[in-house]
Amino acid sequence: MCGIIGYKGQRNASEVVLNGLKALEYRGYDSWGIASLSSELDVVKDIGKIGKWMIEDIDLSKSSLAIGHTRWATHGGVTTENAHPHYSLDKRFAIVQNGIVENYQDLKKELVQKGYNFKSETDTEVIAYIIQEELKDKELIEGFRSAFSRLKGRNAVVLIDSVSGKIIGARNGSPLILGVGDGEYILASDASPIVKYTKDVVFMQDNDVVVLNDSYHIINSVTGEEIDREVSHVSWDIKQAQKGDYPHFMIKEIMEQRTTVADSIAQEKDAVMEIANALNGAFGTYAVGCGTAAKVCLAATYAFSSITHKHINFSLGSEFPSYHHFLTDKSLLLVVSQSGETADTLEAIEVMKKRNGKVVSLVNVMGSSIMRQSDYALLNNVGPEKSVCSTKATTAQLAQCILLAYAAADKYDEGMNLLKDASNKLNLMLNDQFCNSIKKLACKIVDWESMYVLGRGLNYSIALEASIKIQEVSYIHAEGFAGGELKHGPIALIDKGTPCIVFVANDDVKEEILGNAMEVKARGGYIIGVSPEDNSIFDFWIKVPDVGDASPIVNIVPIQLLAYYLAVEKGCDVDMPRNLAKSVTVK
Ligand code: AGP
Ligand code: GLU
Repeated sequence: MCGIIGYKGQRNASEVVLNGLKALEYRGYDSWGIASLSSELDVVKDIGKIGKWMIEDIDLSKSSLAIGHTRWATHGGVTTENAHPHYSLDKRFAIVQNGIVENYQDLKKELVQKGYNFKSETDTEVIAYIIQEELKDKELIEGFRSAFSRLKGRNAVVLIDSVSGKIIGARNGSPLILGVGDGEYILASDASPIVKYTKDVVFMQDNDVVVLNDSYHIINSVTGEEIDREVSHVSWDIKQAQKGDYPHFMIKEIMEQRTTVADSIAQEKDAVMEIANALNGAFGTYAVGCGTAAKVCLAATYAFSSITHKHINFSLGSEFPSYHHFLTDKSLLLVVSQSGETADTLEAIEVMKKRNGKVVSLVNVMGSSIMRQSDYALLNNVGPEKSVCSTKATTAQLAQCILLAYAAADKYDEGMNLLKDASNKLNLMLNDQFCNSIKKLACKIVDWESMYVLGRGLNYSIALEASIKIQEVSYIHAEGFAGGELKHGPIALIDKGTPCIVFVANDDVKEEILGNAMEVKARGGYIIGVSPEDNSIFDFWIKVPDVGDASPIVNIVPIQLLAYYLAVEKGCDVDMPRNLAKSVTVK
């Protein structure tokens, strides 16, 4: 989580860093801070969001180098003392960090014994002082390397040095990208603050240390050897990472689904078939992801069962290590992740790699850690997703899972036709009238403290996904259930008028799910049916097109809209919900 950035070049570095932090803010928004070097090294930091701060309001002189941080607190509360950057004791340098130093307590004990006085509760301050200790008998780069290699856990660190005028960045497990401009360099957690200045980037790899001076060079943190990393070209357009005329990224990204589902399946047929063959050849396949991506994985298990007649196991990323006993070199991990940097998902990959199994990933961020560590990868192709709440990446990943299921059943063309049809129908569905009707529904149910969502089969996973959408942006308690489970306990929660969303597709569980909806209605529940056809059981009907096996794609979109309008109605910060961050790079 959290965003880090560093800039060296001819522009006003503090301004570049400030604007960069705004682009990275979706990664964490507990506090922010900037360190800039002019006549001396100055640090400005504050708690809360950076959103409205302008360069004129910030007390920093013009300079050519600066670093910055936007925080999602892991160690220590949300206070100005804990906000990054953190100085070395002698104020020679300042650092920002993304990640967790797992051995920070041992290192802190060692430093306290040496007389270091800590001002914050963060693990970051430990890094600063460990570097300072190393610099007692080493040059800057060697000292930095040596300190960095003492850190356990997934981390990325950026340092600004007042003596040499250099910026140093390093990564091990947390992301860091270097933008290579014309006489200017920008380091950042992702490409969004970089593309404004250059589209040429180096995707830094674990144990890479980059030194920014008049040019840049990369060395290995352990051996100190020079490394020549390829410069890649990012195709993202700056506009894709901006809200444009929309009030929030979430609604922009929901509306983009008119075309992104089609973009997600515009893949080389050979690449899809290669993955389908790997899936068919595996003995023991696990679909793994976290949060929303996990719901896509669950949907994949149903799609493979009904379309390919193949069994796929499901596991949450954080739980997957407990299955390591069953893994062999024939096992295969199907990984789903928007950011490609989720720590729990990366750990699942590490576990699989230890058993020499293969990894297939469906990711949105090009050059991300998950993509690089995969044997096969399909990019989601939806452009940057900035709202913390995932929408367009989800439907892209659902489409890709369904396509893979068809391809593995040797029915690639049939799958393509089905998904193209679903994409066209989704495009037509997402019109003003449709959005307004969902808005009205949101106004009607916004005061309820709890809502329930029911689905069966493929749409059970979508019931779970619908509930996470409502929870995370509107803070309304929403819970998804398999239709058949309600009568085993949760039905006791249904009161007169309790909103209950029910997904009724034209599939082989249609009668059963309607029966479950009836059970809820009999207890006074208010039934919101998401279905191609109306039914007398529904108190409110959300009409979605009939798209066969692609029903999860069209079913989730109205609930994304409902979650959005509920959040707007309640005055919530839609794109940056409390306690969350877009990219969860800590375990
Ligand atoms: C999505 O709305 C959530 N914010 C969250 O559950 C997310 O899907 C999860 O953290 C996984 O992220 P990833 O897709 O980047 O791996
Ligand atoms: N561990 C650091 C802190 O608590 C960085 C957290 C992060 O990467 O979000 O401030």
